[in-house]
Amino acid sequence: MISFGAAPPATCITAAKVTEAQAACHVVRQSITHCCMPDHGGDPAILAAWLANKTPENLAAWISGPGAAAWVAYRADVMVGFALRTHATLALCYVLPEALYQGLGRALLREAEADARQAGISELALESTRTAQAFYLRNGYAPSGSARAWAGLQSQPMRKML
Ligand SMILES: CC(C)(COP(=O)(O)OP(=O)(O)OC[C@H]1O[C@@H](n2cnc3c(N)ncnc32)[C@H](O)[C@@H]1OP(=O)(O)O)[C@@H](O)C(=O)NCCC(=O)NCCS
Repeated sequence: MISFGAAPPATCITAAKVTEAQAACHVVRQSITHCCMPDHGGDPAILAAWLANKTPENLAAWISGPGAAAWVAYRADVMVGFALRTHATLALCYVLPEALYQGLGRALLREAEADARQAGISELALESTRTAQAFYLRNGYAPSGSARAWAGLQSQPMRKML
């Protein structure tokens, strides 16, 4: 567990439990809806397609699935961030709108990378939203192929040697 933040509200990052799937689902859905405008442009059909599989049941299955490791970030008793690694892929990394740009995304990424290293993984891959591309570039990820289009969205494969 790590804590950071010089003044309240301090943030605490811990390994995610399957019992936190519902709260994690809320974080992911809120972040997609409100933080990813460059991706969905507020188009209800695109947003609906993106959110379709972001259910508490699926979050629970992903958190407890083979090769999975997940982290939650809390401020007081409110979950404000969530990240999921599946094998050598960073599958999800989402922060609530009110907690953006305060170092939380970077801290979640560092947890996932350190954990992957410990698991003997030498390279982490991900599919970046348009929204997050600059963030991943700043954190050492490089594009690794052409952007992929799906359901009106575009994702950019990226990877980083750990
Ligand atoms: C991508 C994401 C996880 C990053 O989380 P975050 O907590 O905002 O990231 P951090 O605070 O660690 O870093 C944000 C950077 O933006 C900078 N920043 C500050 N204010 C900013 C602003 N108004 N707009 C853009 N960037 C800003 C910060 O200084 C920081 O820069 P640095 O990396 O050079 O230090 C978050 O933006 C998010 O949830 N986005 C929507 C979901 C998404 O696209 N997730 C990725 C799925 S692949």
